[in-house]
Amino acid sequence: PLISMREMLDHAAENSYGIPAFNVNNLEQVQAVMSAADEVGAPVILQASAGARKYAGEPFIKHLILAAAEMYPHIPLVMHQDHGTTPEVCQGALNLGFGSVMMDGSLMSDGKTPSSFDYNVDVTQKVVAMAHKIGATVEGELGCLGNLETGDAGEEDGIGAAGKLDHSQMLTDPEEAAVFVKATQLDALAIAIGTSHGAYKFSRKPTGDILAISRVKEIHARIPNTHLVMHGSSSVPQELLAIINEYGGKMKETYGVPVEEIQEAIKYGVRKINIDTDIRLAMTGAVRKFLAENPDKFDAREWLKPAREAAKQVCKARYLEFGCEGQG
Ligand code: G3H
Ligand code: 13P
Ligand code: ZN
Repeated sequence: PLISMREMLDHAAENSYGIPAFNVNNLEQVQAVMSAADEVGAPVILQASAGARKYAGEPFIKHLILAAAEMYPHIPLVMHQDHGTTPEVCQGALNLGFGSVMMDGSLMSDGKTPSSFDYNVDVTQKVVAMAHKIGATVEGELGCLGNLETGDAGEEDGIGAAGKLDHSQMLTDPEEAAVFVKATQLDALAIAIGTSHGAYKFSRKPTGDILAISRVKEIHARIPNTHLVMHGSSSVPQELLAIINEYGGKMKETYGVPVEEIQEAIKYGVRKINIDTDIRLAMTGAVRKFLAENPDKFDAREWLKPAREAAKQVCKARYLEFGCEGQG
């Protein structure tokens, strides 16, 4: 059934596991997440970005997720809006029936310009007021996602700062986090520790200077009762890049967030781990491979099936790696 995000994250905290939150845009991605969760008995967070709602259309996104709840009535499921850029966008999602919303006030409403602390508190407070009134959950964000070496926010067309960020903007300050949580009363806090959206996160396998898991520990020590959220947490598996490139793709060398680093973060209060890119990579590799090997096929179901299966395998792996087995 659809349940509250707060309840799901509280359970994860009590039982020391993390929940991957998968971005979904279409039928096959929803099916992939649900069947993976079903196989391992995991709880599910399906999240839709503003881009997803635009791509599919709001009624489709809503009803795809409701269909998932209907088809898997035994799985606890949260319908979450990812990266709301304004209180109005969040209100729209709440009106649609989302039980959880992210107000990303780390950036201005353009989704590009880093905001001030006071602006962030103000918009997040507004969303907490409207959401808590109806029992919905709120995720906020403090700090900007970005590569600590280059200052780039990553993904050009998604949510991310334009231009260069400086080091301090890209690392959430634990003291500020404590003030922010107290002032806003939000349920979950997304933090910046050097990850960024998209496939091009790190130019080498990340070490502590560019992926600051130590910062997670410092934040958790300061606000132990706040559920932490990691964005930009795809692992960008090398084998998925290899499949894409073997079958005509041209992806450059790149590295994601290693699963073992996420597992370490889960020990220090990270309960929700956002993953979109790994599903994109898995599906693209599978489609490229299928079509290259079957140039005579033209039934869309035939190439969507391996894409859905590849996405499912990624989801299942993350459920197991983050400790979700049997928690749903
Ligand atoms: O926020 C980043 C997610 O990867 C969603 O991306 O805006 O292209 O749907 P999107
Ligand atoms: P990835 O691009 O690493 O999958 O991150 C997704 C995300 O943070 C969505 O909010
Ligand atoms: Zn994100």
